[in-house]
Amino acid sequence: MTMEFDLNGKRHTVADTPQLLIDWLRTAQQQTGTKAACREGDCGSCQVLVKEPGLDHHFRAQPGCLIRVQDLHQCQVLTIEGLLRPDAKPHPLVMLFTEEGAGQCGFCSPALIMASLNWLLHGPALTPEEGEAWLNGNLCRCTGYMGQRRAIVQIASRWATALLASTDRQTTLIALDLLPPYAAIPPCWHSTRPTISEETPEVSIVLGGGTDLYLERPLNQLTQAVPCSSGKLQPPFKEHNGEIWLNAQWPIQALADALLAQKQLPFFSRFNFLFASLPVRNRATLGGNLAHASPIGDAMTLMMALNATLHTNRRSIPVQHLITGFKQTCLAAGELIEWIALPPEVGVSYIHFDKVSRRSTTDIAALNCAGCWHVENSRVTRVRLVIGGASPCPLRLPELEKQFIGLPPDALCPDPTPWLKAALSPRTDHRGSESYRFLLAKQLILAQWDALKQLTSAGSEVTP
Ligand SMILES: Cc1cc2nc3c(=O)[nH]c(=O)nc-3n(C[C@H](O)[C@H](O)[C@H](O)COP(=O)(O)OP(=O)(O)OC[C@H]3O[C@@H](n4cnc5c(N)ncnc54)[C@H](O)[C@@H]3O)c2cc1C
Ligand code: FES
Ligand code: FES
Repeated sequence: MTMEFDLNGKRHTVADTPQLLIDWLRTAQQQTGTKAACREGDCGSCQVLVKEPGLDHHFRAQPGCLIRVQDLHQCQVLTIEGLLRPDAKPHPLVMLFTEEGAGQCGFCSPALIMASLNWLLHGPALTPEEGEAWLNGNLCRCTGYMGQRRAIVQIASRWATALLASTDRQTTLIALDLLPPYAAIPPCWHSTRPTISEETPEVSIVLGGGTDLYLERPLNQLTQAVPCSSGKLQPPFKEHNGEIWLNAQWPIQALADALLAQKQLPFFSRFNFLFASLPVRNRATLGGNLAHASPIGDAMTLMMALNATLHTNRRSIPVQHLITGFKQTCLAAGELIEWIALPPEVGVSYIHFDKVSRRSTTDIAALNCAGCWHVENSRVTRVRLVIGGASPCPLRLPELEKQFIGLPPDALCPDPTPWLKAALSPRTDHRGSESYRFLLAKQLILAQWDALKQLTSAGSEVTP
């Protein structure tokens, strides 16, 4: 089977052989502007813009080291080479980064340009602060980031007003000469490729964004991995009998953008911001995070606190029954998590998610914690507290929860230590020792209580 996609406005037909986009660009196409460094999604240097059929019709920054060429069927890809002008004039962003001294060796520069375009396409506020947050997955080993900071300030001051006033940022960016004219072409969807439901389920490996799979398995062992791309034709979320159903197959960032645009589930923005870097979030899915069944997967901790139910292509599963052991689930071969249903009570709860990791916002955590609190007449009436990373799978803490029932949110926090000691079994690994994890667990519970105090005093109930 062959597959087709557009690279920088030109159609390519490629054999269905296992190859990462970054390698195909740099070797088969000799387009070496996109750099490869960590090859694990961590440094941001391989970012390209991808427009996927089914999702919104816009380019989003994605890591070329975590995409197979086969995954791009009927997508459009824009790389730094796509910004070259027929008249050989430098691109305005290249000029700006140069003027602000935002590069020394220049290795990180192409990805910073692509990440800046992604920010201009999607950033809700286009302030310098937002720019720093949106570009923070881009590592630079030379500069100390001051030049990049100045460039971000300049980008905001030059283009934010026009873009915030625009109803179609892509068209405005083309008019401003920041995107090439062919960026306007909408992605087509006439897929002849199989999706998971059409494949023989017994032999299929479900593929979400590949941000776990491609790091864990060599590509030649993943020839059976079928993208669950049909899910992207469904809406990012929907309401069903008072519940909110999140599409498990949408990239987490696109889901967060859609929820924010509709003013739904405000806590999800914070969760999204703490989850990996932006290019990784533009591929990673909630379904993949749950099915990966990592003891420290952020979505599992949050969804357990929210008492979510998973709807697969075969049945419904309460989320707490999904994980059956270390990195093991009850899913059958080819079983696909399609929707994550949040009960109506989520709409009137105070919800807080936190994690501690080496890089504050772009990394897998040493420990994470989610809480879903119910307060009536200024007293805690119910709470679900879940800690991830301190046992073989994220763990709910019912005995500790009881200590909070009846307390007003401005009371002193009960010392959680005895209940944490009784419940958790953290191990020592490269992310932290056993004693460090106990200490973090205590701090995260104190942080939950502090967040509840702030949420209740601000009256910021999580109502849709
Ligand atoms: C640089 C980097 C940073 C990261 N940071 C974080 C972080 O901060 N927090 C965190 O929790 N994780 C993090 N991760 C891990 C990873 O990004 C997440 O686990 C992600 O959500 C996986 O989703 P995916 O769609 O890419 O899954 P995939 O890699 O496609 O799949 C993972 C597993 O789930 C299965 N699967 C995928 N989709 C479905 C589905 N819909 N139904 C059933 N099974 C499915 C696959 O068969 C596979 O077994 C990070 C990864 C990288 C590379
Ligand atoms: S090479 Fe580092 S993120 Fe891809
Ligand atoms: S300028 Fe050298 S890595 Fe950024």
